[in-house]
Amino acid sequence: MISFYKKFIGYICLGFLLASFTNDGNDPTEAKINELLSKMTLEEKIGQMNQLTGTGLSDDMKGLVAAGKVGSILNELDAKTTNELQRIAIENSRLGIPLVFARDVVHGFKTIFPIPLGQAASWNPQVAENGARVAAMEASSVGIRWTFAPMIDVSRDPRWGRIAESCGEDPYLTSVMGVAMIKGFQGEDLTDPSSLAACAKHFAGYGASEAGKDYNTTWIPEPQLREVFLPPFEAAVKANAATFMCSFNDINGVPSSGNPYLNKTILRDEWKYDGMLVSDWGSIEQMIPHGFCADLKEAAEKAANAAVDMDMMGYAYMVHLEELVKSGAVSEKTVDEAVKNILRLKFRLGLFDNPYTEEKEILPFYTPEALQMAKEAAIESTILLKNDKNILPLNDNIKSVAVIGPLSDAPADQIGTWCFDGEPEHSVTPLNAIQAEYGNKIKIIAEKGLAYSRDKDQQGISRAVAAAQQADVILFFAGEEAVLSGEARSRADISLPGAQSQLLSELKKSGKPVVMVVMAGRPLTIQKETEEADAVLYSFHAGTMAGPALADVIFGKAVPSGKLPVTMPRMVGQVPIYYAHKNTGRPASNIDLIDDIPVGAEQTSIGFTSYHLDAGDSPLFPFGYGLSYTNFEYTDLKLSSNEIDKNQNITIRCTVKNTGNREAAEVVQLYVRNVVASLVRPVKELKDFNKVTLKPGEAREISFTLTPEQLSFWDLNNKRVLETGLFHCWIGTNSAEGLQGSFTVR
Ligand code: GLC
Repeated sequence: MISFYKKFIGYICLGFLLASFTNDGNDPTEAKINELLSKMTLEEKIGQMNQLTGTGLSDDMKGLVAAGKVGSILNELDAKTTNELQRIAIENSRLGIPLVFARDVVHGFKTIFPIPLGQAASWNPQVAENGARVAAMEASSVGIRWTFAPMIDVSRDPRWGRIAESCGEDPYLTSVMGVAMIKGFQGEDLTDPSSLAACAKHFAGYGASEAGKDYNTTWIPEPQLREVFLPPFEAAVKANAATFMCSFNDINGVPSSGNPYLNKTILRDEWKYDGMLVSDWGSIEQMIPHGFCADLKEAAEKAANAAVDMDMMGYAYMVHLEELVKSGAVSEKTVDEAVKNILRLKFRLGLFDNPYTEEKEILPFYTPEALQMAKEAAIESTILLKNDKNILPLNDNIKSVAVIGPLSDAPADQIGTWCFDGEPEHSVTPLNAIQAEYGNKIKIIAEKGLAYSRDKDQQGISRAVAAAQQADVILFFAGEEAVLSGEARSRADISLPGAQSQLLSELKKSGKPVVMVVMAGRPLTIQKETEEADAVLYSFHAGTMAGPALADVIFGKAVPSGKLPVTMPRMVGQVPIYYAHKNTGRPASNIDLIDDIPVGAEQTSIGFTSYHLDAGDSPLFPFGYGLSYTNFEYTDLKLSSNEIDKNQNITIRCTVKNTGNREAAEVVQLYVRNVVASLVRPVKELKDFNKVTLKPGEAREISFTLTPEQLSFWDLNNKRVLETGLFHCWIGTNSAEGLQGSFTVR
């Protein structure tokens, strides 16, 4: 497999090539935009800057569209309706500017793929690209041409409900997966009717919401903004994401929807972005409760002057922008720039030439190819966290299984959050799949024990225990209902909800081996449950085909290859806990855990280093962790040099061997550490990875090349620098293990 990195560089180059073309004065699209703009009245210009949620063919909406007061409509879901509204826009409005129809198509439209956190767990950008392409094919068939995805907010706080929608804690992994999703949504040609304009969201820093509470304030020093939260968005610009979306949060006191530094200085001036920036739902109006604007008029003024091109459901521009321009508070030039970005999106989508959607009798939903891709994605997203006595995969000696737990047969919950259009009746649950695949070979005893994840009624537990006693092995499907993650679904306690832990303890008493499969929208604190279970699989709400995927992994038709895209804390009090942390002046050592401290211990009798007395300093499982049904041996780390100049690349390689008897995929990860610098640097940073499939006994040399750019960091003088000094590097199977080397930049 070509290292994604090489393809990733390829997209970047393509992006620059396209960008240079679009900025070229000879670009025919720019000429058309300018020509159309010159004909538009101020009212018509402002009309393009309004995005409203669909109300079908209501008279109000038809009137607004005919008057040219709407640029985009979201949440319309059938081609007849979108075509009728489009016809009104084109035939009845004075200039006939087409509408663009939008929807949150985040991890599938009808065929639902794993939530983005799960797709990130595959560490396979092709999985993300496939999912986005299937979603685009399905959604565009009803007239949607713009999706509000990918969400590329780096998140290091599993209390935050929207971690489900993210690609996890690492900027590089998020960049790679986000770019792949953009490629999948937008396809090779954005004018293709099956393409969707992507939307890099939420710009920016939303994942840093204080306490993991959604919409909360963020405090992000410039170096952290530049090193952690912005890289995926810069990658999205280079991948030609057609649109961006503002985030709800304030950054250091300035809400993103009114933030010129973010939206003009960085996005436009530094990154030369020529796509379109839409607010989030009402985020312009919400600058009033933020305490940043006194009223809707001021909100409209600050948003327009912060280069927010389109107002999603805020009515700020619709109501106040004309008077603001007439008063000079907002220049017409500012409005022109916004409208040019909007028209450019519509030209790029080909809407002026091909505004209508073919109204098909049979819509391309749930095709066998789509379902197969969704199953493969769910398999690759499954993470094996524990496998004592190699209980997995279940072998032919197993003649009966007890399928237990609230997520064993929960078709709506397994598709997870942010899938408005997914249909649970199309979900294949673990119980469905196990019964279908193995019902005629082994005895299957099904007993949920708890009706849903928050269920505290323990009456069902005794029935579940009775079922367990009849079986050779217990398959315990635990986790979260879909509603417990996603937007505004933050949790302060991220343990298994309801009486699931009690259920597991009772099952354990049966003495039968227990395989725990967790299906959730976030990392959960499952230390106790992990100790009790003999094997643990983690599946971040894996979509329509979660059941067949998990059945294949459990019974050995597939080998798990997922790796954690986010650290698993032992307890929520450790949060935020992530691998790319700073070393501190007293890194954890000589750890005395709270239960080991003698009664009456002197204040100075135990260690003075950085850790929690009741948790230690390590997570339950580290970023990048995941087991397999085989083993991989890493040997022969080699560096192209032990010293490089500041303008030189360095190549780091090692040999990876499959020492087991199953063909399997391994995510080989490259980390570096800048040991001493003018700003303290993380103890490790992921710089590349390569998912390789090796046959039993096969050994392969895996090589990575690091550029000076990848070794640089954002310093206190607000610029990217590479300083001389010592670097450590690791190639390994996760962020906590690997072969270590060192080199010096001179
Ligand atoms: C929501 C979300 C955003 C979504 C938008 C439209 O509030 O924050 O991600 O795209 O509204 O549904």
